[in-house]
Amino acid sequence: MTSALAIWKSNFAIGLPEIDDEHEVLFRCLDAISLARNTSWNLAQSFNALDQLDDYTRSHFRVEECLMRLFDYPELEEHQQQHAYFIAKLGELRTKIVKEDISKDLAILMTHWLLNHIHHIDTKYVTFFKNRGGPRLADET
Ligand code: FEO
Repeated sequence: MTSALAIWKSNFAIGLPEIDDEHEVLFRCLDAISLARNTSWNLAQSFNALDQLDDYTRSHFRVEECLMRLFDYPELEEHQQQHAYFIAKLGELRTKIVKEDISKDLAILMTHWLLNHIHHIDTKYVTFFKNRGGPRLADET
């Protein structure tokens, strides 16, 4: 059973297969939190799902930031600030999930942050990498 909150679609892809795979996992993690919170009120499962999202997100951000450093990406600092904002939001959810329904927060995080970030911020480094002969893109395989 999945919720309708976080379903990965192929048109969310930015063209770097490894990064796209990681983004898809982020969607699955968000969906797992929603499911744990909505289907049966299970705090342990909810925390577990939130922990998984937090761990995976940090790992994903490290990979992106490492690539940006490797290719001297000029907007690294701004991008890192965006990542830090998302991590801070996850911390807020950890507090909130104990006493509130966080479905709305998750939906906002998904649509207003994650999708926006992927579409408008992550795609910028893909264009930059492409011009620098950076990591292989999906359409180059
Ligand atoms: Fe894919 Fe910048 O997060």
